[in-house]
Amino acid sequence: MRSGRAARWWSAALIAASVTLTGCAGGLAPKGPSAGRISDIFWVMMVFAGIVFVIVMGALVIALRRPADDGDEAIERHLERRFVIGGGVILPAVVLGILMVLNVRTIVAEPTSGDMTIDVVGYRYWWEATYDGFTTANEIHIPTGTKVALHLTSVDVVHSVWIPELAGKADMVPGREQTLVIEADEPGRYVGRCAEFCGLQHAWMLFTIVAEEPADFAAWRDNEAAPAPEPEDPQLARGREVYLTNSCVGCHAIRGVDDRGELGPDLTHLANREKLGAGIIDNTDDELTAWIANPQAIKPGVAMPPQSLSEEDLSDVVAYLGSLK
Ligand code: CUA
Repeated sequence: MRSGRAARWWSAALIAASVTLTGCAGGLAPKGPSAGRISDIFWVMMVFAGIVFVIVMGALVIALRRPADDGDEAIERHLERRFVIGGGVILPAVVLGILMVLNVRTIVAEPTSGDMTIDVVGYRYWWEATYDGFTTANEIHIPTGTKVALHLTSVDVVHSVWIPELAGKADMVPGREQTLVIEADEPGRYVGRCAEFCGLQHAWMLFTIVAEEPADFAAWRDNEAAPAPEPEDPQLARGREVYLTNSCVGCHAIRGVDDRGELGPDLTHLANREKLGAGIIDNTDDELTAWIANPQAIKPGVAMPPQSLSEEDLSDVVAYLGSLK
């Protein structure tokens, strides 16, 4: 009976420890200087916490094993007072003082401006990114080895940007602008997410930071800055007509075609993105068809309403959007 209970406790402790440590291994894989500093201070705090834990547990064991009554009461009381002052005042003051200094140094080391700027705006539930000269959504490309200042705000409720591999979190508050500087050491795709509960699809408010060698980034930027490519065949031209004569243009923008829509993601080079719906589905013809027909079935609560298009119109508009490289 008793050993059964002990076994349960041990297995619970082991599961808790492995879950925690797996989280650490995944979350603390810094790929940039800012995340590196956060990782460093995390491990310093872990070591301090570990030492304090061992000291406290040691004191507890000593206290439990000590006989209830041994020796002079005056000496006892004197020792107790020393112990309280040493262990309860001086030790915490020293430990917390050292951690505070390290913490402040970490905060002060954060850059406040970058070599390039991207305006990032949070919407329920997606991300708009405006570079010098063009706007895109949900996939934010940056050059490696470059400090990139993200100027953050929101159009609706409070969101929060979090790219664990690159930097700490930063809130996006309507009516205010906040700066988060990110830098990636090496090329890669880094998942970013909303870290402030903002509504039904908070968990599916994802984006990707695509860090590329500066030459690759420049090629991507030049392509993004260009207007949408002209339709190359009659089906694509029909698809563009479908786009222009339905409610799509009310919310979305395609530069070079109709760029008045401001409520939804810019679609000028949609075909170059890997995901749709801020990370919820892959950018394939089938998924895009399902999304346009009824986004509410895929991401309930998203702002885009279902579209009642004929089968032909739907396949033409999907073909056209799929050609926007
Ligand atoms: Cu946006 Cu949570």
